[in-house]
Parts: sequence; C-alpha cells; structure tokens
Amino acid sequence: MKAPKRLDERERLAVLNILEDLRDSYRMLEKAHQELKDVDRVKTDIISNVSHELRTPLTIIKTSLEIIRSEELDKEEFENILSMMEDSVTRLNDHIENLLRAVDIHRGIYKLKPEPVDLTLLVPSIVKKAEKNAAERGVKIKMSLANDLPKIRGDPAALERVFENLLGNAIKFSKEKGGLATVAARKEGSSVRISVSDNGIGIPEDKLDIVFAPLYQVDATSTRMYSGIGLGLAVSKSIVAAHGGKIWAESTVGEGTTVHFTLPVAAEGD
Ligand SMILES: Nc1ncnc2c1ncn2[C@@H]1O[C@H](COP(=O)(O)OP(=O)(O)OP(=O)(O)O)[C@@H](O)[C@H]1O
Ligand SMILES: [Mg+2]
Repeated sequence: MKAPKRLDERERLAVLNILEDLRDSYRMLEKAHQELKDVDRVKTDIISNVSHELRTPLTIIKTSLEIIRSEELDKEEFENILSMMEDSVTRLNDHIENLLRAVDIHRGIYKLKPEPVDLTLLVPSIVKKAEKNAAERGVKIKMSLANDLPKIRGDPAALERVFENLLGNAIKFSKEKGGLATVAARKEGSSVRISVSDNGIGIPEDKLDIVFAPLYQVDATSTRMYSGIGLGLAVSKSIVAAHGGKIWAESTVGEGTTVHFTLPVAAEGD
C-alpha cells in the first residue's frame, strides 16, 4: 500500500480555505434554520392572535342571534342587541380590511387610485362613523380643520383606512374618563399635515418607531387589556408612504399621543 501523500504548504492552505468556507456555509445554514424556525413561530403566533381577534366579535354575533331567536325582547333590548352586533361587524370588517391590505402590501400588489380629495368632506364622514364607538368608551371627538385647507391627492378608500386606524387607536387607548380625540389638518408647504391626537395612555419614547412595524404591540401579552392584531399602524404607514407622505408619532406616557402624517396637495386643475 502506498503511504499517504504529504501535503505541501500550498495544498495545506487550499484545504484549510475549503474547511473555512465549509465552516462559514455551516454557520449560514444554522442561521437560516434558526430564522426559518423564528418565521414559523411568528406565523403561528399571528394565526393564533388573528383567530382570537376574529373569534371574539363572531362569538358576540352568534350569541346575539341565539338570544334574538329564543327570547321575547322588548324594543330597547332588541335595539341594544342590534347595536352590539353592529359593533362586532364593524370590528370584523376593520380587521379583515387591514389583513387584506397588509397581504397586498407584502406581495407588492397594492395599488392606489388617487384623485383630488376634499378633507373637509372626508374627515367629518369618518368622524361620524367613529362617534358611536367613541361614545361607548366615553371619548369625545373634535375636529380642527384649517379654513384654507386645499384638496389633497389621494385614494379616498385607502385614506379612510388610515383615519379609521388612527382614530380607532385614539379611542381604544384612551383613559377611563374624559377621553378626547382630535383630528386636525393644516397646509404645510406643498403638503397637508394631518394630526390625530388623544389624551390616552401614551407610548413609551423608545417604542415610537417600532409601533409602526407589522404586528408590534407595546403590550403583546395574552392577558393584555386592549384588543387588536397590531396591523393598524403598519398598514397606515404603507398607505401614507404610497402617497409620497410621511407618518410619525409623538407621545408622553400617561398624557397622550399624536400621530402626524402628510399628504401631497392636489395640483391645480387636477
Ligand atoms: N394612540 C395610541 N396610544 C397608545 N398606544 C398606541 C396608540 N396607537 C398605537 N399604540 C400602540 O402601538 C401598537 C400598534 O398599534 P396598531 O394600531 O398597529 O395595532 P393594534 O391597535 O394593537 O391592533 P389593530 O390596529 O390591528 O387592531 C398598539 O398595540 C399600542 O401598543
Ligand atoms: Mg390599531
């Protein structure tokens, strides 16, 4: 039998290089495996959170239907049940709209249909829709729209989503008593700045950016006080960015939050 060949220095270096490359590849594989495991865990978390958030209003609708079918209700009781069902349908609809938009955005197929939009008409109609939910939580909504507000260029349905999400948060994260949400808009150069403020629980300073990340919630525990999937701000951010605007939050914990966003003024003759 032949004695194994001794490697010369050049060959030894080549083998060492290959080993080093192999080690790198192994490390990358290990990292990819861990990331995949993380994605899988995140997906499971999302599915379980989404299912829970959808099931709650569905259970209310189902129970209400059973009561309507099996009990003699007077007019007031009937109205109350209908109102609860209406709230649950709105909640379901909002979640589903956010989920659908988030999927479209993720796939890169989200398309705007921009047109000149008069915020002095759009904002009051959205506020009117939010008023019932606000009243149930003891929150008042105020509007402060500048007199000389120009039309902006935007997609009304997409903007409605943004307003509903921001106003929904302002109402949801209000304090027990004396909640106030304000929607303000004023011209700022070639943009309009819209600010949705509340005097609620606030967001810690180090979380002001990350709250715009999909699925991030300051309190993500299963026993948290506030419902939600964690998509509202992320979807709003993508919609505002698609309009060429910016969105950001300012807040003081215990005092309140303001989310500002900008939209381009519509061109003259648009
Ligand atoms: N006005 C606010 N006041 C206090 N905290 C807020 C406010 N708006 C957002 N947050 C924080 O940012 C997180 C993310 O908000 P986002 O609207 O994306 O999700 P969500 O309201 O929890 O769920 P969803 O909007 O999908 O129903 C919230 O869970 C909350 O912790
Ligand atoms: Mg929200």
